Amino acid sequence: MLRSLLKQSSALRNITKQSASLATCTRQIRGAQASLIEASEESFQATNKLYTVRPVAFWMDKILEKENKRPLNVSSTQYQHASVNKTMSDSYMEEYLPFKSSPTLLDEYITTGGKVRIGKILEDLDALAGAISYKHMDTFVDSPPLTVVTASVDRMELLMPNTVEDFKLSGHVAYVGKSSMEVFVKLETIPQYDPATVESSEFPPNDFIAKPTPNTVLFARITMVAVDSATGKSVRVNPLITRNDEEKKISEYAQDCKSRKRLAGESALNKAPPTADERLTLHDIYMKYSDKEVAPENAVWMEDMTMQSVFLMQPQDRNIHNKVFGGYLMRRAYELAHATGSVFAKSQVSLLSLDEIVFKKPVPVGSLLNLHSQIIYSQGEPSKTFQVSVTAEVTDVETGTTDLTNTFHFSLASKEKPLRQILPRTYSESMKYIEGKRRREHGDEAKTQLLSLMCNNSN
Ligand SMILES: CC(C)(COP(=O)(O)OP(=O)(O)OC[C@H]1O[C@@H](n2cnc3c(N)ncnc32)[C@H](O)[C@@H]1OP(=O)(O)O)[C@@H](O)C(=O)NCCC(=O)NCCS
Repeated sequence: MLRSLLKQSSALRNITKQSASLATCTRQIRGAQASLIEASEESFQATNKLYTVRPVAFWMDKILEKENKRPLNVSSTQYQHASVNKTMSDSYMEEYLPFKSSPTLLDEYITTGGKVRIGKILEDLDALAGAISYKHMDTFVDSPPLTVVTASVDRMELLMPNTVEDFKLSGHVAYVGKSSMEVFVKLETIPQYDPATVESSEFPPNDFIAKPTPNTVLFARITMVAVDSATGKSVRVNPLITRNDEEKKISEYAQDCKSRKRLAGESALNKAPPTADERLTLHDIYMKYSDKEVAPENAVWMEDMTMQSVFLMQPQDRNIHNKVFGGYLMRRAYELAHATGSVFAKSQVSLLSLDEIVFKKPVPVGSLLNLHSQIIYSQGEPSKTFQVSVTAEVTDVETGTTDLTNTFHFSLASKEKPLRQILPRTYSESMKYIEGKRRREHGDEAKTQLLSLMCNNSN
């Protein structure tokens, strides 16, 4: 069947190729639609499918559904769980963000200082990772109503340029577990961006693999989980097969990162006490500062470096399964971390890495989101970097209950002024301090590992 499809006229293929690309006057997305080659003959309508995490129904319909004014459109079809072997290129997608070439697009993302707003890029990144996962999950036949949620952002390294550039955001599934998919996404500068050249070029490109290159300015590893929309339970996703050494290396790297994450989880401070060295560090701080009422000039108490914000979750920020979009939460948390960091550093700060985000529970539309940020680690001079944590709690306005839904960890750097040291006072603050210290040390390791991947793959 596949062969017969491949034999179809080149004209038909060109139409398909065009429909697989969504070009607007500003951003250009390729791979958002299932192509004819991917879809089976019987499910030709699948070619109209758009891989997205954006809502596909009106919020008003949901209100009417709840009030039983409009019946739920539930199909009685008994679905079979199908499984299709997928490759990395099957889930590949790319999105061009030509900030340099498009003043209109730049205006949507611009910061007060004329740079690109990272928080907005985080939203795009999460949306792309979601769409990539849908593409991987697609079996091209009628299947149970599946949805995909962001479980965690495991790490994101950044080296954003100081100038406004044209960018390409791209990625694919790099490893799958049972229901989880490790999605690698990278952002790179495109020195000579031309929409027409992109449109006529091969898709996916030969060098589609998400590995760092000299033009890479952001590299992220995100875990997405497939969930049955009806039961809310996680469901098995399509297997991922590797076709060559390069794909195998990427997949092994993803698996290795997953194992390291599990190991780090086992020695987390809510499971095991600090190590002997860490206890010495804390004791040293205790001996030097415990009798001080006022923090020394080059230091600040951790309790004084916090900020909070509260938002009502609106339908405009919902995702395809009517919960708040993960990218929106990332943007809000990052912008609060950035504000806290700027006040702490008393200067401009930049994001070095997003160390980890865990999406423990979905955030419902209509709830109150309380974000709380804190600077948890800074060694002070001569180091220019510091760690910020943000927690998100959701308050159900009807019941008054509050639930921890997300934790975010960022590493930031001060650009101009020397940094003050952060000093914990309580045991709970001491644990946060050690957590920040571990993340700082792990960050250096993770960067080295990522760069070694770049060297290995260029062999
Ligand atoms: C992600 C979520 C579904 C996991 O729920 P759970 O009860 O832990 O589910 P399970 O135990 O069945 O685990 C399912 C998979 O998720 C993975 N997983 C769970 N928590 C994870 C985390 N923090 N990081 C990475 N993977 C995680 C598990 O390893 C498992 O993978 P596997 O099936 O490949 O082995 C749940 O935590 C959730 O709904 N979180 C909120 C998601 C959200 O709202 N995101 C933002 C909007 S999209």
